[in-house]
Amino acid sequence: MPVIETQNLSHTYSPGTPFVKEAITDISVKIEKGDLLGIIGHTGSGKSTLVQHFNGLLRPTSGKVFLNGRDIWEKPKKIREVRFKVGLVFQYPEHQLFEETTYKDIAFGPSNMGLDADEIDRRVRLAARFVGLKDELLKKSPFELSGGEKRRAAIAGVMAMQPDVLILDEPTAGLDPRGRDTILGQISEYQQENGTTVVLVSHSMEDIAKTAKKVLVMKRGAVAMYGETAEVFSRAGELEAIGLAVPAVTRIFMQLRARGFEVGENAYTVRQAFERLLPLLRKGGAGGA
Ligand SMILES: Nc1ncnc2c1ncn2[C@@H]1O[C@H](COP(=O)(O)OP(=O)(O)OP(=O)(O)O)[C@@H](O)[C@H]1O
Ligand SMILES: [Mg+2]
Repeated sequence: MPVIETQNLSHTYSPGTPFVKEAITDISVKIEKGDLLGIIGHTGSGKSTLVQHFNGLLRPTSGKVFLNGRDIWEKPKKIREVRFKVGLVFQYPEHQLFEETTYKDIAFGPSNMGLDADEIDRRVRLAARFVGLKDELLKKSPFELSGGEKRRAAIAGVMAMQPDVLILDEPTAGLDPRGRDTILGQISEYQQENGTTVVLVSHSMEDIAKTAKKVLVMKRGAVAMYGETAEVFSRAGELEAIGLAVPAVTRIFMQLRARGFEVGENAYTVRQAFERLLPLLRKGGAGGA
């Protein structure tokens, strides 16, 4: 059974006003337990709108959302429990840090769940360690943290709820390359260690290539493609028609192949490219010597 499933999900903002906007239309997708799914698409394609339905932050205009086989809106009063099970880290989550210490901010989610103080403490420290925030930072005001630290504190706050599904909406936006790699590495590690289902929304094909096992491509409020990362990225022409460039290394591989080099399978990350090319270069070197 999929952990999350949508059936014919549509959402219209501000219906019946001059600002009416159909943001997503007729989306039916299944997300399997333990998946690390990347969602990609242009700005305004409906990524945030879609994922905010997964934890009941938005209610469908039509269609359904299921969590572990149950319609999440069957009992609207129980929607709070859905939000504990499906944790969502918003776009620019650091704007929502508001407590006097970073510790309290990370503790906010688990405190709302009614856990006892020892368990909250254990979870806060575990989550902080996971995202690499040192103990002394926990005593500081979140406003004293750097941009990357604030982002990691916000992510830790949701991890500390230990949700079944962790959704991160553009977790690397606005960070420098090192900050991006740190956060993506932590997300992959977290997913592997805990087996949590992770949904990662991103503008960056590179980020998705590095991290996600499956990819869902959004185009103007609908699903354009959905499959294993390698399968979706092999459809470079279709992606480019949507205006989404495949990662630069993938383009290089495709061109090498077009020019008759036997480079094997496509590479989607620099590491993969390195691993595929190194033996070929070694062979070439030996042959040419
Ligand atoms: N609260 C809102 N009220 C009205 N329209 C909205 C609202 N939020 C989003 N929209 C519109 O719905 C569409 C989908 O927006 P959404 O934020 O889901 O896209 P997105 O893919 O997450 O974009 P981005 O990459 O910029 O974050 C856009 O046209 C957007 O302008
Ligand atoms: Mg968005």
